Amino acid sequence: MSKDVKKQLQLNASLPSGSKKPLRKSKNLKPKGSGHTQKLTETVEVVATPKVETVPAQVKAPEYDVDAAMDVVFKPNPGPQTSFLSASEREVLYGGAAGGGKSYAMLADPLHGLNDPNFSGLLVRHTTEELRELIQKSQELYPRAVPGIKWSERKSQWISPRGGRLWMSYLDKDTDVTRYQGQAFNWIGFDELTQWTSPYAWGYMRSRLRSAHASELGLYMRATTNPGGAGHAWVKKMFIDPERAGKAFWATDIDSGETITFPKGHSKEGEPLFKRRFIPASLFDNPYLSDSGDYEAMLLSLPEHQRKQLLEGNWDINEGAAFPEFDRKVHVVDAFEIPDSWAKFRACDYGYGSYTGVLWFAVAPDEQVIVYREMYVSKVTASDLADLILEAESKDGTMRYGVLDSSLWHNRGDTGPSLAEQMNQKGCRWRPSDRSRGSRVAGKNEIHRRLKVDEFTEKPQLVFMDNCTNTIAQIPSIPLDKKNPEDVDTHAEDHLYDALRYGIMTRPRSSIWDYNPAKQRTGFQASDPSFGY
Ligand SMILES: Nc1ncnc2c1ncn2[C@@H]1O[C@H](COP(=O)(O)OP(=O)(O)O)[C@@H](O)[C@H]1O
Ligand SMILES: [Mg+2]
Repeated sequence: MSKDVKKQLQLNASLPSGSKKPLRKSKNLKPKGSGHTQKLTETVEVVATPKVETVPAQVKAPEYDVDAAMDVVFKPNPGPQTSFLSASEREVLYGGAAGGGKSYAMLADPLHGLNDPNFSGLLVRHTTEELRELIQKSQELYPRAVPGIKWSERKSQWISPRGGRLWMSYLDKDTDVTRYQGQAFNWIGFDELTQWTSPYAWGYMRSRLRSAHASELGLYMRATTNPGGAGHAWVKKMFIDPERAGKAFWATDIDSGETITFPKGHSKEGEPLFKRRFIPASLFDNPYLSDSGDYEAMLLSLPEHQRKQLLEGNWDINEGAAFPEFDRKVHVVDAFEIPDSWAKFRACDYGYGSYTGVLWFAVAPDEQVIVYREMYVSKVTASDLADLILEAESKDGTMRYGVLDSSLWHNRGDTGPSLAEQMNQKGCRWRPSDRSRGSRVAGKNEIHRRLKVDEFTEKPQLVFMDNCTNTIAQIPSIPLDKKNPEDVDTHAEDHLYDALRYGIMTRPRSSIWDYNPAKQRTGFQASDPSFGY
């Protein structure tokens, strides 16, 4: 975030006028729960004794219903802010546009819990200066939401009249986590999560998330952030890539992509451990900032990629991205059953040591290409890969053809048939991809052409089903080659991109005539006379 934006954010950070209703007059302040009646006004008890002439008034701590009081002082904006505050998943990220009301919601989230004497919360920011800002906001909000709540400067902690505690602290270097060693919290919040360069602090603090009262209080980790920042990539992998925005999913390991499960020996061994969810934020969710339009105008004046991150909350924009036009809202579709009559084919970029990417394509009657399945595996031999592919597509009907990295016809292992031949012999048929000079750039251009939204149909000619999570994550994050901006940077993780390129370069058409791969063993043979494939 630029300094200007930061400054502007701070300027806008004062409390809104919308919440200035005096607490006592509010009709909303009804006692909740059963049994005891709560007093709606402060009780002033005058204790008179005959001997004393002047009697000081003794003010008794009022018994407020924190939930009801909070409703009056803090009303979540409809939409994402409300979803964030009512989310039940273990780990939730509220991320997106600056000014969407994320930090404000983060402050409001522990308020309900503070009502409970056993509540123990921790809210962190990356550095002490940023923490100051957050504490300041909490000092405007908390005393009005929880009458009688006390701030201890020494402990940097809020303590509610009922005993619930919230520690506001910082976590800068990884070694700072020792501050929290041996502590237990049932609520942990990280404001501006992408400021942490690695997932270490977040992972470590998860180990501090426990409570003897977990069943009543719940265990929650909450984060807010703008896209961009040093931790953009890992935060995106953890919260954004695994599932479409707003949908809860079982938490995955961000390196392997596998679901995190209960460990060996646990009674629930092998079962998924907890759920995550990403809730996107937009400036327009927050009427307190968006109504005036000034702030929006300021964000609009930023350079394009920064504007997309801060105003639109777009996670796929990276400076220097090869496919900046890729947009989840446009290019990702819900998975659906492909009709039998649609032409299908597959493409593969093989790598044993690194990764093998396989994509399956279908061509709709209107010529739109749908990537409907992906396989992304590592350390799988060509022969095993053939089995995996045949199994995956066993119910797909006819596979018109498959294209594979042409170098696999030269690669023979020690002796024997080439890797391509090994797969062909298993019945997993391939023909070689186009690897001629200029084919990389031509392939990239062809993908651009297909990603473009057609003026008349208002649809792109290439979409991805939402189950292809690795591909959807990879394509928008592939950088351009700095030396040759016509091509992508080949050092980036690009196996699925290469598979996509091989597939798209066959210029698939819905009417493509049946290609019989059995005729082809080695070498190049055209299956489509007009295009030479
Ligand atoms: N529900 C709300 N009620 C009142 N004011 C709000 C609410 N949500 C946001 N605001 C106001 O909008 C300002 C900007 O929100 P903030 O949480 O700082 O945005 P973000 O962290 O997403 O950049 C806050 O300082 C606050 O004044
Ligand atoms: Mg904020």
